[in-house]
Amino acid sequence: MKGIILAGGNGTRLSPLTKVTNKHLLPVYDRPMIYYPIQTLVDAGITEIMIVSGKGHAGHFLELLRSGSEFGAHFSYGVQEEAGGIAQALSLCEDFSDHKKVMVILGDNILEDNIRAAAQAFEKQDRGAKVFLHSVEHPQHYGIALLEHNKLTKIVEKPKENLGNLAVTGVYMYDSQVWDVVKTLKPSGRGELEITDVNNFYVQQGTMTHEVLNGWWGDGGESVDSLLEAANLVAAKRRQQKS
Ligand code: G1P
Repeated sequence: MKGIILAGGNGTRLSPLTKVTNKHLLPVYDRPMIYYPIQTLVDAGITEIMIVSGKGHAGHFLELLRSGSEFGAHFSYGVQEEAGGIAQALSLCEDFSDHKKVMVILGDNILEDNIRAAAQAFEKQDRGAKVFLHSVEHPQHYGIALLEHNKLTKIVEKPKENLGNLAVTGVYMYDSQVWDVVKTLKPSGRGELEITDVNNFYVQQGTMTHEVLNGWWGDGGESVDSLLEAANLVAAKRRQQKS
């Protein structure tokens, strides 16, 4: 399976921190944010990784991350010309994927869990996709999963009404159907191609599986508070590892 990290977007929710610096390069405790999703992929056994960033910052990513050898990985780079949404950034990775399965992580998602076993399970999954769920305090800021008898029946992006608190995190696994799906998407109300629309395609097809993350999970780009929380979680983990 190949890996994709999506690190585009304008990071407006973290302004003014993101006026000059790309969101995914901001510090989370002792490392730039993007180091965490890279480590998640490498720990899952995925070392062929494409990193998509926006046009103003692509050089910074290249300078910081270079070939990937420091991480025991090999990096390719893509540039999203305009901030057109997560699914639009993903669509740039079709050639890189070689039509193999892919694991996609948003560059601001920080996971405590090692998801190697889930990656192996997905390799064995005939076709379809897999998402990872985690409970959240502010469901209106995320894609929320609706479950019936432990089967995903729908994902609602940033619901205004109360539909539960189980968020779809920014870690996704897809088979090669994803490249056809992204071509059919239409921009949402916020003018973006939504990853939730991609996921709902698989839900409707009945080929979406899911796992619930056990450890903590942080979306460092959701707000300044979430950035601080992610840093605190990482700091606590480091202290725990040292003691
Ligand atoms: C995106 C997805 C959302 C998901 C979240 C996880 O939201 O659209 O479904 O729950 O990432 O980090 P965004 O960060 O684009 O608002």
